[in-house]
Amino acid sequence: MAFPIHRSRRLRGNETLRAMVAETRVSVKELIYPLFIHHGLGVRNPIASMPGISQFSVDQLAAEIKEIDGLGIPAVLLFGIPECKDACGSGAYSDDGVVQQAIKAIKDTCPKLQVITDVCMCEYTDHGHCGIIDRNGVVDNDATLELLAMEALSHVRAGCDIVAPSDMMDGRVGYIRSRLDDSGYSHIPIMSYAAKYASGFYGPFREAADSAPQFGDRRTHQMDPANIREALREVALDVEEGADMVMVKPALSYLDVIRAVKEKFGLPTAAYNVSGEYAMVKAAAAQGWIDEERIVSEVLTSIKRAGADLIITYFAKDAARFLGR
Ligand code: PBG
Repeated sequence: MAFPIHRSRRLRGNETLRAMVAETRVSVKELIYPLFIHHGLGVRNPIASMPGISQFSVDQLAAEIKEIDGLGIPAVLLFGIPECKDACGSGAYSDDGVVQQAIKAIKDTCPKLQVITDVCMCEYTDHGHCGIIDRNGVVDNDATLELLAMEALSHVRAGCDIVAPSDMMDGRVGYIRSRLDDSGYSHIPIMSYAAKYASGFYGPFREAADSAPQFGDRRTHQMDPANIREALREVALDVEEGADMVMVKPALSYLDVIRAVKEKFGLPTAAYNVSGEYAMVKAAAAQGWIDEERIVSEVLTSIKRAGADLIITYFAKDAARFLGR
């Protein structure tokens, strides 16, 4: 008598059957595509360490936005590269700032595309830190809150749909929530970068957003990769303060954190498949060392399987071409 085939193996016989019984499916409807908005006119700067990704000036956005929308990607996440940086990051909350102009341009082109904005100071300060620096050379948490609230409000006034504070200042979600509520925007959701680790995987992003700190690092307000209980405490605070969606960042080295956050809070959970995670795949694929499409599909599937409802990824356009809708 032949040894019986195990039932799960019987279900792996062909591609169609495998797809029918797959436990995890990634859909383009869960993807969020980051965009870097550069000041000036006629700018399309490819980012060397992120092949396929460019910075765009506002006048160059329309074609890109139509492509994103045409691929069925439902949302973009905006970062700004302003012309002038100063000590208090005034470009972040100026009503004619780069992000504010981009929001209007995107909404003119594709009103249904959801515009999420990164709310942080690091791209707008001349020292590259996420807030105001005090006399001792460290970020002044409380003084920064007011600037973040001004930034969030100015994005919302320009027409964005969701604000995503990424700075990790204590109390920022509650502070931003009450400012939005007081200003008539209680319907605007906050997606908080709730569990954000101090990570080497942000390397390429700092070139893309021109936001590397000029001294020191972000270890005082971003989390130690060794800690998961701390991550859950941080997320709990953001949830109490009113976060509507929470994010874990980076994604791949933190799949256990995604799972724990999803199970414990049950809120819509986003994972940020960050620049370094993208760069590694692109670099190895360019060498012919890995099969890019296969790896991208495996990467996104693993993030979804871990519990993410939404995936912020530079692969969104690539993936939209081979994913089911
Ligand atoms: C901060 C911010 C960063 C990223 C997103 N928002 C950089 C940082 O925290 O240093 C990184 C994203 C990526 O690496 O793709 N505004």
